[in-house]
Order: sequence, then structure tokens, then C-alpha cells
Amino acid sequence: MERARDAALRVATTGRVADYIPALAAADPEAFGMALATTDGEVFGVGDWEQPFSIQSISKLFTLALTLAVGGESIWKRVGREPSGTPFNSLIQLETEHGIPRNPFINAGAIVVTDQLHSLTGDARGAVRDFLRAESGNPLLETDSVVAASEADNGHRNAALAHFLASYGNLDNPVDTVLEHYYAHCATAASCRDLALAGRFLARHGLRADASRLLSRSDAKRINAVLLTCGMYDAAGEFAFRVGLPGKSGVGGGILAVVPGRGTLCVWSPALDPAGNSVGGVAALDAFTTATDWSVF
Ligand code: DON
Repeated sequence: MERARDAALRVATTGRVADYIPALAAADPEAFGMALATTDGEVFGVGDWEQPFSIQSISKLFTLALTLAVGGESIWKRVGREPSGTPFNSLIQLETEHGIPRNPFINAGAIVVTDQLHSLTGDARGAVRDFLRAESGNPLLETDSVVAASEADNGHRNAALAHFLASYGNLDNPVDTVLEHYYAHCATAASCRDLALAGRFLARHGLRADASRLLSRSDAKRINAVLLTCGMYDAAGEFAFRVGLPGKSGVGGGILAVVPGRGTLCVWSPALDPAGNSVGGVAALDAFTTATDWSVF
């Protein structure tokens, strides 16, 4: 992990901290944290691994998992599972593809998943928060309301996506409600430690920290497959090539990656590449999986 940190810090300054959400622009581009959690609950870390950051799109894997856990297969009628080859906030495919987003990790798909989770639970943001708290063992984990408000104030694109989805009949709840819950789960503040622990159900073939079953083995496999093909947007191919793991990035600079049967890795380095993925985070995971046998390939 020390060598992975060196690899990250060598390249982190070539990226740019996200500024389309103004509250994220203040992040320190030199910050770096990395955590490794094993399937049996051991957790190790280096650097700023216990410092909370904005998890952003990493939250989308938890909304998908909870939606499948509570509502089953029906979500796949409303969202696909093909890579989009377009930026995470693109509007283009929604019109030609009749309001069915390509996959659950681009913003359009994640908004649909949040809508379904909200219909199923009555409180999508609360469902995500409670799950993250339980799995990480961190009762203080919470939405950063300044970041959530900043997203809402600058959310024209997500509002456009949500209205477009509604016009095709692919939202059940009011646009404003869905966006409020979507921003709230994206704006969750959590550390590499919290996320590595919370993602372990994907390495444990669907089993939660308390050994109860969240997902069937098959659904855990499917989520890992969609993470591998779509979790890094139009850089998913490059990430598979360099890192060889299912993973989900967020514009806060975090990446959560899964090693099925073995554990999870979470890195945080705020400067991003043009696809919206952490430059240092990808470099750290590349260095780690190249030096170890922690890869699916
Ligand atoms: O909706 C947005 O644009 C953000 N809340 C999340 C985007 C994101 O994290 C993309 N990931 N790299």
C-alpha cells in the first residue's frame, strides 16, 4: 500500500479536482488514503484513510444493491446493463433509447434506481445511510448538507435528466423528491475505511457483515459484472486493463474496488481525469494489483 501511495502521488497533480459541484472544489489534491478490508473483517490503511470525503457516485452501487435486495429483478425493466461510452452525465442516449438509461451507474440510471429504492422503502437516503452505518460500524456517517445543497443549486443537468426520464414515464416519484434523495446519498461523507468495510458484501458473495444475506450469490455476481463493465463510465475498459477489478468511482476522488472472495480496496485522491475518475486512485490500484495477485484475472 505504501508503494501504491507513491504511484498515486507521482501522478495526482496531472488531474483536476471536480469543480462543477462548487463545494467539492476545496478538496486538497495532495490528499491520499487507501484501505483494504478482508472478507473476514480485518481492515488496514495508509495515509488519509480515516478522513471522510464525498462519496458521490460510489453511493450508486449501494442504491443498486439495496434496490435488488428489497425489490428484486424488476429494476432491470427500467434500466439496462450495457456500457454507455458517454460521459456520466450525458443526455444523448436517453432520447433515442426511449428513457431507459444504459446502466445503473451513469447519472440517468442512478436517478431511476434512487426512484425505485424510494418507492420500495419510503426513504432512499435513509436506506443508504443506515446500510452504510451498519456495514462500516460507523454510527456518525452522514450526508454533508453543504455538498448536497451545492449539488442541488448547480443541478441543471441532473434535473434535465430527471424530467426527461419522467416524460418517458420512467420515474414514479416527483422529480424534486427523487433528486433530493439522489443528492443526499451522493453527498454522504465517508472514509476509505468506511467504504472498504461497507463494500464487503460484494466480496462475500452477498453476505452482510453480520452474516445475514443481502443478495443472492447470483445478484452479487451480477453487480460485480456491471461494476466491471460500467463502474468507471467510458474509462471502464482502461480500468479493467490496468487494474482488473470491478470498481466504482466518484467525483469526490474515491474508488471502491472489489476482489470477489477476498476483500475490497478503497482509495481516495481528489484530482480527476477527464472521465471523472481519480487519477491517483487508478494509479494506486494499478500499482497494487500489479504487485499482488489481488485481481479477478
Ligand atoms: O450527480 C452528479 O453529478 C454527482 N452527484 C455524482 C457524479 C459522480 O460522482 C461521477 N463519478 N465519477
